[in-house]
Amino acid sequence: MLKAITWGANGMAGGEVLRILAGHPNIELTAAVSRSKATQPVWTVHPHLRPDFPEMTFVAPEEALSMEADIVFLALPHKASWATIKEYRKQGVKVADLSADVRLKDMAAYKEWYGQEHPAPELMEEAVYGLPELHREELRGASLASGVGCNATCATLGLAPLARAGLILDARMELRVGSSEAGAAPSQGGHHPYRDRTMRVYEPFRHRHLAEVIQECGLPASAFTMTMTAAPLVRGVQMLAQVRLSRKAKEPELWKAYRAAMERQPFWALSPARPGHLRLPDPRLVLGSNRALVGFSLHEDGERLLVVSAIDNLMKGAAGTAVQCANLMLGLDETAGLTMKPVYPA
Ligand SMILES: NC(=O)c1ccc[n+]([C@@H]2O[C@H](COP(=O)([O-])OP(=O)(O)OC[C@H]3O[C@@H](n4cnc5c(N)ncnc54)[C@H](OP(=O)(O)O)[C@@H]3O)[C@@H](O)[C@H]2O)c1
Repeated sequence: MLKAITWGANGMAGGEVLRILAGHPNIELTAAVSRSKATQPVWTVHPHLRPDFPEMTFVAPEEALSMEADIVFLALPHKASWATIKEYRKQGVKVADLSADVRLKDMAAYKEWYGQEHPAPELMEEAVYGLPELHREELRGASLASGVGCNATCATLGLAPLARAGLILDARMELRVGSSEAGAAPSQGGHHPYRDRTMRVYEPFRHRHLAEVIQECGLPASAFTMTMTAAPLVRGVQMLAQVRLSRKAKEPELWKAYRAAMERQPFWALSPARPGHLRLPDPRLVLGSNRALVGFSLHEDGERLLVVSAIDNLMKGAAGTAVQCANLMLGLDETAGLTMKPVYPA
């Protein structure tokens, strides 16, 4: 078994990395890192994993740094990850990051979207954007995979096939998201009486994850807007994109563009055209799994298209994709540990 250390292991995405590793055939968790929970049993934070890690306790960062590892998962907040990435890369250890610290290739874009100069631009030379659906060959054997934004993942998997076929003039995206996106720490907006059953709209036009969609779709910022809605979900992201096509299209051409992009993709698929209620995907159909679903509907004018995509933010949008990257980086079967089925209905 290969050895993995997970940082931010008491958090939302880190906990999901632990859940995946608990069933991974080739990678075992050797340390779960947390500053605030060090020495406490892992199952006190993740009670659903008690049978899998009955004896394991969280370890402090200083202890973790001297432990042996084949791969390190960093589920730390933005701007808290880069220094630990540097430390591990100095030791020659492979890193699958989950934060935003090495996602953007363009340092000017990083400054624009994250409000400061990138503290370690040299890391970008070896970082591969951690979305296997678009960067599989670069990830094989790579040493550093970036995290992916959960909203960015949902949007990119919905739009990249059209963008790459030169079919997008512009796209107005609405993202509906669950509360687990905000992490495990309580906040006023996330407190149950205010967050439950909400349909709160926020970050009109310009959510930060747009920077990744621009990068991965290869279109100018002026082609996109991304507005968020906090929806009454714990897990799940759904994107609705109103796309104006760059030219008139017919349905078969669109099916073809999507099918070509999704060929030999273990976790990325189109929704069925019929029955109608399954054509545009609901996040409920992927919850707990590493799957992404995409559906579309062409307006009768042939110029406007509604694209809907759905993922589980903690899986395809974070931990699932990070483990998929790690599998590729370590030369394992890409799907190892990730074949769990969605929970439905949930
Ligand atoms: N939640 C999602 O749906 C999602 C999706 C995609 C990507 N991500 C990314 O995954 C990362 C973790 O997100 P999350 O939602 O899991 O957050 P979270 O629940 O808040 O967990 C982050 C953990 O990191 C540790 N931490 C906090 N500040 C730190 C610091 N300065 N240095 C070292 N450790 C620190 C904390 O544990 P201690 O204080 O105990 O050390 C905390 O539990 C973020 O970068 C996020 O953008 C999350």
